[in-house]
Amino acid sequence: MRKILLLLLAISTLSSAFSQDNTNIAIIPAPVSLIPGQGHFVLPKTTTIGIDAAANQASFSHTIADLQKQLHTATGYNIAPVKPDAAATIRLSLNKKPETALGDEGYDLTVNNTGITIKANKTAGLFYGVQTLLQLLPKEVDSRTPVKGIEWSIPCVAIRDYPRFAWRGLMLDVSRHFFTVQEVKNFIDQMVKYKYNLLHFHLTDDEGWRIEIKSLPRLTEVGAWNVRREGRFGTFSTPTPDEPRNYGGFYTQNDIKELVAYAKDKFVDILPEVDIPGHSMAAIVSYPELSCTPGADKYRVISGEKFMNWYPGGFSAMVDNTLCPANEKVYPFLDKVFTEVAALFPFGYIHVGGDECAKNFWEQSDAIKQLMTKEGLKTMQEVQSYFEKRVEKIVESKGKKVIGWDEILEGGLAPNAAVMSWRGIKGGIEAAKQGHQVVMSPTTFVYLDYMQGDAIIEPPVYATLRLNTAYSFEPVPDGVDPSLIKGGQANLWTEQVYNTRHLQYMVWPRSLAVAECLWSPKEKKNWNDFVRRTEATFQRMDLRQVKYARSMYDVGFAVKKDPSANDSLSITLSTEIEGLDIYYSFDNSDPDNFYPKYSQPLTVPKDAEMLKVITYRDGKPIGRQLNMPVNELKHRAGIKEKPTAPVE
Ligand code: ACM
Repeated sequence: MRKILLLLLAISTLSSAFSQDNTNIAIIPAPVSLIPGQGHFVLPKTTTIGIDAAANQASFSHTIADLQKQLHTATGYNIAPVKPDAAATIRLSLNKKPETALGDEGYDLTVNNTGITIKANKTAGLFYGVQTLLQLLPKEVDSRTPVKGIEWSIPCVAIRDYPRFAWRGLMLDVSRHFFTVQEVKNFIDQMVKYKYNLLHFHLTDDEGWRIEIKSLPRLTEVGAWNVRREGRFGTFSTPTPDEPRNYGGFYTQNDIKELVAYAKDKFVDILPEVDIPGHSMAAIVSYPELSCTPGADKYRVISGEKFMNWYPGGFSAMVDNTLCPANEKVYPFLDKVFTEVAALFPFGYIHVGGDECAKNFWEQSDAIKQLMTKEGLKTMQEVQSYFEKRVEKIVESKGKKVIGWDEILEGGLAPNAAVMSWRGIKGGIEAAKQGHQVVMSPTTFVYLDYMQGDAIIEPPVYATLRLNTAYSFEPVPDGVDPSLIKGGQANLWTEQVYNTRHLQYMVWPRSLAVAECLWSPKEKKNWNDFVRRTEATFQRMDLRQVKYARSMYDVGFAVKKDPSANDSLSITLSTEIEGLDIYYSFDNSDPDNFYPKYSQPLTVPKDAEMLKVITYRDGKPIGRQLNMPVNELKHRAGIKEKPTAPVE
C-alpha cells in the first residue's frame, strides 16, 4: 500500500512537472505523445537545414524552401540548406525501415541540446513535423519582418505524432462569393499549419459557376457573373435587366492546375464539387435546355435575391434551379463537365453535390412523370436517386469515385458512392450501415458559416455554432464501424462572406478545434488546455495578420420564464471559457469592473430596457460589450412576440 501511495505521489509530481515545464508549449492539434526533455536548444545564426538523400525529392523541395524563407524572414539569419546527408541544425530524414505506428503522415520530432531531428516514413510526415517545429519556436517566427532581440529557443522535447483520420477537410464555397487564386492559396497556407490535408472546393452553385469547362464555354461566359450586392445575402432586391452583370469570376483551367500543384506541394488534395441536380441555376442560365421547365431563358444567375422558400421540414424553389433527370441532354452535358474536371483534379473523388434539390418543378413536369412510369420510380427521391446512379456511372467512367451530400441516400444510394453527412450524423450512420464510406460534416459541429456568438453582436446568420461545440465534434458515432468513417471536415459557405478578412474570422478559431478533433487521439482532447493553446495561437495569427474571432471571450445568454416570480424573465449569463468575470448594467451606461459582477441569474429591474454586459480577466476587459435589449430577451423566453432589434 505504502509503495502504491509513493508511486502515485511520484506520478502526480511527474505530471505536474510535465505541465509546468510545458506551459509555453502550445501545439494545435495536440500531438499523440510529447515527452519533455531538459532545457532548450537555441537556433544559432549559422542554422542549417539538412535532408537525407531519400527525402531530397522534388515534391519536398518547397517545404524546405518555405521553412528556410520563414526562418530567414523572422530571424534575419542566413538559413542555409545543406547538402543531403551532411550534418545540420535541423535534420529531416526518412526512416529506412518504416515505423508502422507513424503511417504515411506521422513523424518523430526530437529536440535536444545539439539540434532538431524530424523523422518520418514519408515526406508528408516530415511536412507535418515541420509544422509542429514552427509551433515550438517562439511566436515571433510568424513575424513578417525580422525580429531583433529574440532568443530563438526551442524546448527540448520528444514528440511522436500521427493523425487519427486520413480525411481532414475544410470546404470553401467560391460560388456565393468568388475568391481569387491568391486568396485560395492563402487559405491553403493557413489550413496546413493545423495539419488539414483536404480542400473541398465548392465550385458551382446558383450564384456562380467557377471553373472553366472548355467544351461548354457559356458556363463561365454567362454562369460566372451576377450583380454586385452588399448587405444581407438572401434578401437583396431582384436585379433589373439593365444592371451590369460583372461581379464574380472563375478559375481558368490554368488557374486550377496552378492551385492543384500549389496544394500538392503542401500535401493537400483538392476535392472538386459540382453541385447537381439542385443548386444548378448558373448552369441552367448558361444552357437553359437542361431544365425540365419551359421558359428558363428568363432565368438569371442569382445575386443574393430570395429564390427559395424555406419552411419547417421542407423547401421549394421559386424558379427551377435543377438539372432535369428526365432530360437526355443533361447526361452528355455532365459527361463533358466530368471529363474536364476529372482531368484537372488528381484526387480520387469528385463531389457531385445532391443537397437541397427542390422537387416542386419536377412534380409538375410531364417529362418527369413519363420517366417515373418508364423506370418504375415512385417518389421524387427515387427520381433523384435515378439521376445520382447515372451520374455515378459517368464519374466512374472517368476513373473517379463519387462522393455526395447525404441526400444522395434518399431513394437508394448509388452502388459505390461515399456520403458526406451534413444534416447531423444520421446520414453517415445510415450510409455506414449500408457499408459505404462516410465523411462526417454535420451542421451541428462544423458549419463555419454559422455565428460564433450571440446574434446581438455577430454578423447575422440563421444559426449559431460556438467554439466549444465545434471542439466536441466526434466523427465516429457509437456503434458504427470506424473503418468506414474516413474522417471529417468543416464547411465554410460564403453567402454572408464577402471578403477574405471575414473568411478568416469565420474559419478561425473553430477550425483549430475541428483540426484537433480530426488529428489528435480522442483521449487527448481537453477543452481548457485547448483554450490555452488557442490563445497562444491567436498571438501567432496576429503576427501573420490573419483575422480570427474572439467570440469565446463574450457573454452568452440563456433566458426563461420564472414560474416562481409571476413568469418574469430570468437571465442566466455564461462564458464559454473559464476564468472570466462578467460585469453588467441595466441603466444604459457601459459597464466596467466597478459595476455589479454577475454571480446568479438576473431579473430585470422595473422599466429597464437594456442589459449591457462585458467580460474581464485579471482586472482587464477581454470580451466585447454586448448591448442586449430586454425585449429581445423577452422574445427569446417566449414572453414577448416581436423583438425590437433586428436579430436572427
Ligand atoms: C449543405 O449545407 N447544403 C450541404
